[in-house]
Amino acid sequence: MDAETQSQLTHALDTAMARTLQERLDYLCSGKSTKEVGQRLMKAQLALDRMSSDPPPNYEDEWLAPLYLAWYGPSHINMAYTLFTQVISQQDDTLSKGPLGVHLEDYACGPFTGQFAFALAASEASEQFSETRLPSIYSDDSSDPMWSLGKNVWDTTLDVLGFPWDVQTPYSYLGSFRDAARRLKFRRRNNYSAPVWLTAFHGAYPGDVGQVLREKMDVLVQRNKPTVVLTTSHRTRGENMYAPPLDTYEGLHRASKGPSLAITGWLPQVTAWRRRIAGELLADVGGFEPWEHERVNYLLSEFASSWSPPRFEYVFSLYVRKDS
Ligand SMILES: C[S@@+](CC[C@H](N)C(=O)[O-])C[C@H]1O[C@@H](n2cnc3c(N)ncnc32)[C@H](O)[C@@H]1O
Repeated sequence: MDAETQSQLTHALDTAMARTLQERLDYLCSGKSTKEVGQRLMKAQLALDRMSSDPPPNYEDEWLAPLYLAWYGPSHINMAYTLFTQVISQQDDTLSKGPLGVHLEDYACGPFTGQFAFALAASEASEQFSETRLPSIYSDDSSDPMWSLGKNVWDTTLDVLGFPWDVQTPYSYLGSFRDAARRLKFRRRNNYSAPVWLTAFHGAYPGDVGQVLREKMDVLVQRNKPTVVLTTSHRTRGENMYAPPLDTYEGLHRASKGPSLAITGWLPQVTAWRRRIAGELLADVGGFEPWEHERVNYLLSEFASSWSPPRFEYVFSLYVRKDS
């Protein structure tokens, strides 16, 4: 991706995310006292801070989803995009066409990070788009707050990008991304016989939560017979990643640390939103230890929302169906 495209993409997604985050926060705050709002935000941010320890955070907590998007959203889009473009296309001839004409099942999709990455990767081959080779996707998650926030930020991004016939668009370099995102069909079943890719980005957990996820992945593999199964995890959770049956699938790659991420830079509007929360909503909240206040304030105020946060480490596995 060239520097100008990267800069416009950052501006468009930063705008869409910050707008969606503020709308979601306004909705959550409605009818609640500042004290209650502060306590819910503190609790959710502390749970996110323990992401890589057990048990996993409660993704049904509706205050968690916006904080998750503001912190993990950009880097997880970047990670999935990097894998789609750099890894899959270089591994195997059958995959070299990239996501064009593919049906993606993105399981444990969170706030649609995989869907953004898939549209970005598809847009880079967009001159080959035809009505018969459009990619399609089904983004699925058990958490309604995460899924609905993803849907909101996706729809807002389409608004921000505008239409091809708009007289003035500030995003002249994002024409093919806008087209790919608008033409990406959202459907539950692969009903046009396209090859299926199954992904689960950062959906690896120990204990019962992980077991349920892996069992569901098994069902999806049996039912949809994906040609590609791609999963990622935080470095410390690698052993909980899903593996499809090895009589049918060949493991092509397993990295202990992913390749460096494709997009660089940071998102000023999302960063400002996080800092505003710390300054305006958490200043006087009671009921927490002083160190918890300090920690949350530090996390929200000191770090920029970044495409590529420092020390971002992940593991990934890529499996290809032997008979594909
Ligand atoms: C760490 S987030 C990853 C989200 C997204 N894929 C990303 O890369 O940012 C884990 C997601 O798994 C979802 N999840 C947990 N258990 C699940 C299950 N049994 N079925 C579907 N989704 C599940 C959570 O709701 C959460 O959105």
